[in-house]
Amino acid sequence: MRKEIEKYEKYLLPSIKSRRFYKEKPLMLTNGEGAILKDIKGNEYIDLFSMNYIMFLGYKHPEILETIKRQVDKLIFSVYEFHTEPQLKLAEKLAKITPSNLRMSYFLNSGSEAVECALMISRQYTKKYEIISLYGSYHGKTTYGARSATGWSKAKRYIGPMLSGFIKIPWYYCYRCIFKMEYPECDLLCAKILEDALKYQGDGSVAAFIVEPILGSAGNIPPPKEYFIEINKILNSNDILFIDDEITAGLGRTGRMFAIEHYNVKPDIMTIGKTLGGGLPISATIVDEKIGESLDSFDYYVTYGGNPLACSVANVVVDLIWNNKLYKRAEKLGNYFIQGLKELSERYPLIGDVRGCGLMIGVELVKDVRTKKPAQEESLYILEKAREKGLILPAGRGWFKNVIRINPPVVITEEQIDKALNIIEELMREACRRFYR
Ligand SMILES: Cc1ncc(COP(=O)(O)O)c(C=O)c1O
Repeated sequence: MRKEIEKYEKYLLPSIKSRRFYKEKPLMLTNGEGAILKDIKGNEYIDLFSMNYIMFLGYKHPEILETIKRQVDKLIFSVYEFHTEPQLKLAEKLAKITPSNLRMSYFLNSGSEAVECALMISRQYTKKYEIISLYGSYHGKTTYGARSATGWSKAKRYIGPMLSGFIKIPWYYCYRCIFKMEYPECDLLCAKILEDALKYQGDGSVAAFIVEPILGSAGNIPPPKEYFIEINKILNSNDILFIDDEITAGLGRTGRMFAIEHYNVKPDIMTIGKTLGGGLPISATIVDEKIGESLDSFDYYVTYGGNPLACSVANVVVDLIWNNKLYKRAEKLGNYFIQGLKELSERYPLIGDVRGCGLMIGVELVKDVRTKKPAQEESLYILEKAREKGLILPAGRGWFKNVIRINPPVVITEEQIDKALNIIEELMREACRRFYR
């Protein structure tokens, strides 16, 4: 194992090392089934991470494996220049199930590419160029547009300058409200401030507002209920497009097929990815038909985009979620999990906040419930100890590195959630004993 780690560090860029969950003793995985992962030594873990939201349908899903085998036997690859059945079927399916008039798709490989495509479409369609996004939002790192929209200053360090024309407004993070206000007395200032941004920043050429319907990387933070209604009013009265970035939240995870369906508003452009490929790289930018029909001269190309292998798997992923209403399962299991975590929060002062939507849950750890000082050291302790107890628990995440971002596969069982809750309780007890004496 030591040899493998040394080779990893010799042959892969150091950014791999800084990303790994377990810094000293990295976990080498060999196998996965359902919501269970296995390491090289045969140890088993309940997975609450889903490989950064990707494995919503779990590991080794029989229909996904079967589809891959079948498609590989037929046609493994083709480019946009040729038509294929899997691509057409997928586009038609998405047109039927996505909300509002989202009808025309373009398939890409990653979330960043889908976001980049959405940004370019919004500029080309509106002939305007400014883009507004939120503090703490995450829209990707692979391309400069996605990175410029991302609201993390760290993501921009040493590789700037970012693109011009990107404006940020405060996020909807109620537990740590930037205005130090309480909902609902705040009267949704974090949404209404968009009007000020239009008035005082930029030059009146705003093409689009891009937003996550639940902030994922910042710590699985849902917005206040009426947030999007308020935002939408401002966008409509200023002719600004609404880009709904559902790369993490889309396709069932939050308890609806698409997370924006919680809020009764209609996006003009939507991006999806992660869950879509069931582990294969594919993403999509889906646009309102009136925008799509006007994009004759839109030139966006990525060689792997829309290939038949990824599209055939995506078809099965969408069918499995839609036909089996797996979003309802996500809602039910999510409520069950959140309930268990809320009960723990009453017993353990380390837990400052439990929030979430379906199987996209954030547990915020704090040193003191009054000061809300982020419990970063405690989070790292919990991350490591959870592994010893057979749980992949993504602790130490979010903006302040103190959130457990719980996003298990939807195939997780209630028994596995109970087991996970028991382990989390043990961890809370041990951490409180260790850090709160
Ligand atoms: C909301 C959102 N948009 C875009 C992206 C970028 O996706 P990718 O890493 O596939 O480029 C992410 C990745 O986590 C994301 O959470």
